[in-house]
Amino acid sequence: MTSDKLKTPTVALGTWAWGDSGETGNGHFGSHLTQEGLEEVVDKAHAAGFTLWDTAVVYGMGRSEIVLGELLKRYARSDYQLSTKFTPQAAGTRDDPVADMLEQSLARLGTDYIDLYWIHNPADVARWTPYLIPLLKSGKVRHVGVSNHNLSEIELADQILGEAGFRVEAIQNHYSLLYRSSEDAGILDYCRNHDIPFLAYIVLEQGALTGEYSPENPLPEGSSRAESYNGMLPPLKALTDKLASIGQKQGAAAPDVATAWAIAKGTTPIIGVTKPNYIDGLVRATDMTLSSDDIAELEALADAANVNTRGWWEKEM
Ligand SMILES: NC(=O)c1ccc[n+]([C@@H]2O[C@H](COP(=O)([O-])OP(=O)(O)OC[C@H]3O[C@@H](n4cnc5c(N)ncnc54)[C@H](OP(=O)(O)O)[C@@H]3O)[C@@H](O)[C@H]2O)c1
Repeated sequence: MTSDKLKTPTVALGTWAWGDSGETGNGHFGSHLTQEGLEEVVDKAHAAGFTLWDTAVVYGMGRSEIVLGELLKRYARSDYQLSTKFTPQAAGTRDDPVADMLEQSLARLGTDYIDLYWIHNPADVARWTPYLIPLLKSGKVRHVGVSNHNLSEIELADQILGEAGFRVEAIQNHYSLLYRSSEDAGILDYCRNHDIPFLAYIVLEQGALTGEYSPENPLPEGSSRAESYNGMLPPLKALTDKLASIGQKQGAAAPDVATAWAIAKGTTPIIGVTKPNYIDGLVRATDMTLSSDDIAELEALADAANVNTRGWWEKEM
């Protein structure tokens, strides 16, 4: 019953850090983002053909959606795709908390439909999944996916949607060189076998895999990402050096290689874009080829770093 098959691009764009922008700024990422700077990010992304934008209500409690909606106003609605989420922990108490949260997202994003709507986490799959069905029927939501769900939770959500003629059309989980639990748990294989796109988030480990940050130049002091990652930067050096040296041979940089790795593994990376020149990196990443030796060496160095980057909101897969 889904109207058309979900089309996913090679790379999607993440806007969690955009919740740090404006007066409320300086939150999880400790980034200082301005509307002008992000306008340039949007324009560059669109000029390069990257048009799937991922956000969520809880990124800056509405701020990310507001800024994104404002900046995309300059484009025709058919020229971009929106991906946002229902977060169970932020549900209200009215009859249909999912429809309510969606309406708020639509208003903030300045649109009347969402291309790809997610249940953000599996707080209660049996309770929340059925609420997606009327949203799909109404057309306010074109496609649905589940995020942070393990295999049995994905299957349960798919069964619930299947009873109404719909299906889980995409999976969104943490997947990076340092965090391959979805691969180990068979979720990547499941996606391949069922022709379901897997959208990988935190592919750059919020900057820790870019080689830009080091003990001498740590992630912004006082931010949540600094707390998570600054202690890991020394053991990550061998890996980020390797990412940089592989990149150098193809005129690319470490983050481009980390992104290309996720593409080579059959996923669609959602990359958090905060600066206009990061779009050039995405172009390079999509043009790059990694050999199986490159992939094996990177994964071996990632394993040797022996760090656990599981987010506080995540559970074992
Ligand atoms: N479903 C979920 O539960 C969930 C959870 C987390 C994230 N997500 C989604 O996934 C997206 C990506 O995750 P993320 O933004 O948290 O982390 P990420 O993509 O791993 O890292 C983004 C950070 O990396 C740096 N960066 C990006 N491109 C770069 C480049 N070319 N060169 C150098 N540095 C670069 C930027 O840091 P600086 O600004 O410091 O330069 C940016 O803030 C999010 O924005 C969100 O849309 C979903």
